[in-house]
Amino acid sequence: MRQPTSIRKRLFYQLAAVAAVLSLAFVLVVRGVASQAAEGTQDDILAASATAIADSLSSEQGEVTLELPYSALSMLGTINEDRVFYRVTVNNETLTGYADLPVTNAPTRLDTPAFSTEIYRGDEVRLTSILRRVSNSATGSKVVVTVAQTRSGLAAITQRITVTATGVGLLFFLLATTLSLLAATSALRPLSRMTGAVTRRGPSDLRPVTEDTPAELAPLVGALNSFMARLRSSLTRTEDLITEAAHRVRTPLATVRTQAEVTHRKLNKPEHKQAIRDMIRAIDESSRSAGQILDHAMVTFRADSLALDPLDLAALITETCDRLAPTADLKDIALLRKLPDGPVPFKGDGIMLQAALHNILDNAIKYSPEDSDITVRIEVNSALHLSITDQGRGFGDMDFESLTTRYARGANVGDVVGSGLGLTIADEVARAHGGRLELSHNKEGQGACVSLILPYV
Ligand SMILES: Nc1ncnc2c1ncn2[C@@H]1O[C@H](COP(=O)(O)OP(=O)(O)OP(=O)(O)O)[C@@H](O)[C@H]1O
Ligand SMILES: [Mg+2]
Repeated sequence: MRQPTSIRKRLFYQLAAVAAVLSLAFVLVVRGVASQAAEGTQDDILAASATAIADSLSSEQGEVTLELPYSALSMLGTINEDRVFYRVTVNNETLTGYADLPVTNAPTRLDTPAFSTEIYRGDEVRLTSILRRVSNSATGSKVVVTVAQTRSGLAAITQRITVTATGVGLLFFLLATTLSLLAATSALRPLSRMTGAVTRRGPSDLRPVTEDTPAELAPLVGALNSFMARLRSSLTRTEDLITEAAHRVRTPLATVRTQAEVTHRKLNKPEHKQAIRDMIRAIDESSRSAGQILDHAMVTFRADSLALDPLDLAALITETCDRLAPTADLKDIALLRKLPDGPVPFKGDGIMLQAALHNILDNAIKYSPEDSDITVRIEVNSALHLSITDQGRGFGDMDFESLTTRYARGANVGDVVGSGLGLTIADEVARAHGGRLELSHNKEGQGACVSLILPYV
């Protein structure tokens, strides 16, 4: 899978790339300007030197003579250690100097120095030539003064400047890169602050995000807030629906059942009585299914945002037992409580725990014979062990794992009404609290033992 790209990294890479381009441009520009400036200086001195020589030209009886001024060449020597060459030609004949020194592509305008770069005696030389007419006569002699100088000094200067510029460019790049990293981190700080604020929230906290957000994040925060508002209202609607549905399904079914029982008593014909009994059983089954399905929905719903309320498990057990006592009484079943003295504090969702307990106790009553005992125990170790033991038909050799799956009923149910959701509910409640549901056999004889093991949080 492709790794999600980090905005911070991308921002940093882009800023670093810009810094690299700018640094390179800086080095190239400095180098260009420096070498141009150095070349210009050399050209100026060469031209001054050539002009000084040209100024020393004179004509005696039609012959061109030259008194070579020392300063003309010494001014070139001041720049560096480069070698200097000169040549003076009169009508293309060498008057003095290096006869093989090339002449710049024939200067055409008088007194205007022309420049070129040539190879002379194996070295690159910069060369300037000046054209003069020296004469008394009308035509005069065409004198060309050429002065040349090697360029190694110039190259050295350019290189020195390049090295310095590269160093400065590199320093600039490093500085800009560091600043880019800081800038990228600081630009994204509001985002990480917002992420932190949302992450720190509890699972059921759907309040809108009110942290200060930069303008760029405002649409995202707006979308997030409107999404949470929709989710909140949808969750509230679901919760209301579950509660309402439970009420609206159970009440009319209970009424119909009572009516059916009354009718059953009034009827005499056995086939009519049987028909009503079948009807009562069908009502029981659908009422039970509807109740269990809604309870299961409620448990799943609450598990998503588990409430951790401080509660007393002993009181919770007593309350559930009291609620089921009439059903147990019908079968002369005694609900024995072996609880520690005093309260058993625990943090969890009371409604969910009650649903789990109700289902386990309901099973124990349903699958037990008349005139038997059901024992509810609490043992407190590192975790809370809440076990309900009965003297009923037991689990036999059934696979415990499969009994906790949805709508799964055992082979031992006989004609007992049920929908196969009771243990699923109890299991989900245990898991939501970080614990587990344990099915086992009654160690003291016939029957089943179902335990909720709940760790302290
Ligand atoms: N105390 C028990 N003694 C014997 N068998 C049990 C006991 N509790 C559960 N069982 C077995 O486990 C199965 C699953 O129990 P569960 O409570 O999930 O479903 P149910 O009781 O059949 O239906 P309902 O959803 O109405 O409770 C039961 O069908 C039964 O076979
Ligand atoms: Mg059950």
